[in-house]
Amino acid sequence: MNQAHVEDLTRFLRFPSVSTDPERRQDVRACAQWLAGKLAAQGLQTRCEETGGHPIVVARNEHRAGRPTVMIYGHYDVQPVDPVALWDSPPFEPRIENGIVFARGAADNKGQILAHVLGVGETLAEKGGLPVNLIFVIEGEEEVGSTHLESFLTAHRDELRCDVVAVSDTGMVAPGVPTLTYGLRGIAAMELKVTGPATDLHSGIFGGAVANPLTVLSRLLASLHDAQGRVAVPGFYEDVAPLADWEREAWRTLPFGDAEIQRLTGVPALHGEAGFTSLERLWARPTAEINGVGGGFQGQGSKTVIPREAFAKLTFRLVPNQDPQKILASVGAFLRAQCPPSVRLEVLDGHCGEPYAADPHSAHGKAAQGALKSTFGRPVALIREGGSIPIVNTFRRVLGVETLLLGLALPDCRAHAPNENFPLENFFAGIRLNRALLEELAACSPQTDSAR
Ligand code: BES
Ligand code: ZN
Repeated sequence: MNQAHVEDLTRFLRFPSVSTDPERRQDVRACAQWLAGKLAAQGLQTRCEETGGHPIVVARNEHRAGRPTVMIYGHYDVQPVDPVALWDSPPFEPRIENGIVFARGAADNKGQILAHVLGVGETLAEKGGLPVNLIFVIEGEEEVGSTHLESFLTAHRDELRCDVVAVSDTGMVAPGVPTLTYGLRGIAAMELKVTGPATDLHSGIFGGAVANPLTVLSRLLASLHDAQGRVAVPGFYEDVAPLADWEREAWRTLPFGDAEIQRLTGVPALHGEAGFTSLERLWARPTAEINGVGGGFQGQGSKTVIPREAFAKLTFRLVPNQDPQKILASVGAFLRAQCPPSVRLEVLDGHCGEPYAADPHSAHGKAAQGALKSTFGRPVALIREGGSIPIVNTFRRVLGVETLLLGLALPDCRAHAPNENFPLENFFAGIRLNRALLEELAACSPQTDSAR
């Protein structure tokens, strides 16, 4: 085991680069600078690109004509650590136990992106050069919706011209099983606010003669699903691309299914849209989720009050070919039509990300499969995933390229949750994977000439 690589990983994990927290702004910046220093020390031409928010780290080798250009994308920002009391050790003091590193960002995405950085470093140190033209783009705002990345891509389209993008920010279906993700769900976020009386009211004096905003909100939220677990918004499924037969077949034989999902989540029973398996529900069907509800008295004991307002935060996970804006419009119309005149409903549309699907059997897809197979020595699982990386579709739209999603996180990595973790074995596999991937991609014919 290369101890220097482990030290780099723990150093990277020590930065509390929580992008959503304004108090962590300097820590996010320090993390970007450390990463840029690492890339520069490996011999790449590197810069920290300023944005209105957190910096983007950009690095490249010397590009030569006639070779394919590969962009490796990742993020160095992390999710907040709350609830911090549920962590077994402090989230920014990496702890290694039984070969697994525990820290916020270990899997999502520091461990995975650093594996690529170190893989490139190894090749450069051993061979003095890379087999492809390479561009690293590592941003600090992925967990807050990649606010400034699209304008950066658009403004630097020429500099970022490439043949394919590679991303390791997804999962493996099981330990040791190489996994190529060829589809991701999209997302559409919405907030609801229901207001009634001008002020909180005594529920005995006024209860019965005015509507309770929390009751109205609860009815609206309950109306989102029918008894079969289907989303009840008219037209919600209209544009959903059906699952191909080969996908349904391939997913049946994966070493990941109901028993594993139940074990990982700890739920007493699984639940979802009638007529689909759990993997189909997760990867190929859209959902409506209530992420938070508020209003009224939250303190100890009881308080007899009719709250003046109630709110909820919703997200919809979307699949090809659903349009996030269209979904927000249909949901908004559905809810408004049901809202009684006794309250006011505000519907606030939030961030959106398009779903993604690619052909895992394209030339680049085959190269990715070859690299995964040679790294792990086993046949490759071809899957979609339920999470969202909205920028992947932006790469397609702005740069005209496909993205290869070569995940290294395990199903129990606890991304976004307490005790996030990443096995060192996967970290080192990621380093080998990077080396194999660049070799495989070097054999693909270049479409784009990025050498200048
Ligand atoms: N790496 C995840 C996305 C992911 C997780 C994809 C698991 C596939 C499998 C990424 O960092 C993330 O959390 N994305 C957010 C996007 C949102 C903030 C727009 C998500 O999916 O909730
Ligand atoms: Zn994440």
